[in-house]
Amino acid sequence: MGSKGFTLWLTGLSGAGKTTLAALLATELGARGVNVEVLDGDEVRTNLSKGLGFSKDDRDTNIRRIGYVCRLLSRNGVGAISAAISPYREVRDEVGRAIEGDGAEFIEVFVKCPIAVLAERDVKGLYKKALAGEIAAFTGVSDPYEEPLSPAVIVHTDQESVETSVRVITRELEQRGLIPEAYADKLQNEEFGLCAALES
Ligand code: ADX
Repeated sequence: MGSKGFTLWLTGLSGAGKTTLAALLATELGARGVNVEVLDGDEVRTNLSKGLGFSKDDRDTNIRRIGYVCRLLSRNGVGAISAAISPYREVRDEVGRAIEGDGAEFIEVFVKCPIAVLAERDVKGLYKKALAGEIAAFTGVSDPYEEPLSPAVIVHTDQESVETSVRVITRELEQRGLIPEAYADKLQNEEFGLCAALES
């Protein structure tokens, strides 16, 4: 338990909640004794991917770099969490295959939120600029976002709380045997097992 590495790949539009989710997931998994590392697009673009822009080629390069680091971490037992838009299906799949090829699990999570809600919230003020034509090739506005065809998990960040999204994702990891069960759930399950045993 906990020794098998994996990559949790959060994909979705800017502002959908990938960074927030990744940070909360890292805290939650860390508390359960899992070694985790977060690779956040915005942050990676200030170091490893410094100088890259937002053309398809540059985005693919950014994603291949993030994917490569996730692969190295995952094959060494770490739970790597990627939080990048990663708008192109082909390169996401390529990264997934490379990670799985090393015997680690790749779990694609679609962080889904309608563009109308994101443009309305506009936390970073980027949608307003993109809609005014001040930012070229902005994902979802003037640049493509290819939704995952069969993600392991979909979280609807406009409909559910961030705690619920974290719970849905950790549940998936538990079911795959990648992380130990949450202590509260373990207690509840044991209690349930005991009641069932007493009743029979
Ligand atoms: S990706 O497409 O290469 O996966 P990444 O997640 O690293 O993107 O970076 C996205 C972040 O860059 C956005 O959250 C936003 O803050 C910023 N950004 C700046 N320009 C753009 C753009 N044209 N399209 C999308 N995001 C942009």
